[in-house]
Amino acid sequence: MSIKLSVNVNKIATIRNARGGNLPHVEHVAMDCETFGADGITVHPRPDERHIRYTDVTALRSVVKKEFNIEGYPSDRFVELVVSVLPTQVTLVPDPPEALTSNGGWDVKVHFDALSARIAVFKKYGIRTSIFVGTDLENIEQASKTGTDRIELYTEPYATLYSSDATGAVAPFIKAALLAHDLGLGVNAGHDLNLNNLAWFKQHIPFLEEVSIGHALICDALYLGLERTITVYKQQLK
Ligand code: PXP
Repeated sequence: MSIKLSVNVNKIATIRNARGGNLPHVEHVAMDCETFGADGITVHPRPDERHIRYTDVTALRSVVKKEFNIEGYPSDRFVELVVSVLPTQVTLVPDPPEALTSNGGWDVKVHFDALSARIAVFKKYGIRTSIFVGTDLENIEQASKTGTDRIELYTEPYATLYSSDATGAVAPFIKAALLAHDLGLGVNAGHDLNLNNLAWFKQHIPFLEEVSIGHALICDALYLGLERTITVYKQQLK
């Protein structure tokens, strides 16, 4: 079974914002990603809108034909945006406004009530929910009690360890995915996945449904072009 590839287009917005015009055009790039084989598009609007803007998210809704995934910190403003856009999936991420990028998963016990309340709202609107977590098994058990449909495993620790200890790097993720599946949760993954480490991750993680990849994929596209890049990422996921 092929794992779904959701392309995070935040970096496209970063390049656009550097000049203040509309080049590259975020919606056109998103449409092309789908044409080239991506199974969906991910955006991560941050409160300061330094890359994806809230208006981009609304505009993308009408052009994304496959899976649309909006990720971010569940502030009131974010929740309002998500329920107005009605994406396929919302991924809740605990990144504080000043963070350069997401740098960890939720401590679900600490944020249990807030997460459960947000998830209940999204589910009322028929939006699939996912929460970003590390591989701690107790934390994943807590996650399953929030009512979320899926978890997204934070793969930065995997990516860091992969080059020196590929077997050790994947071990906690295998356990986490098995437990999540036993608890009835779907399993997504993302962060620092790239053409070096993706195939190994895919081969070893049971029940993996979707990866969302931004930074490395856009960097590869500088050399390979977007169409070829998406094709080779998809090949890694077959
Ligand atoms: N998943 C989540 C929840 C993220 O916050 C990010 C980064 O925005 C990604 C996946 C993609 O990470 P990367 O850009 O390293 O591929």
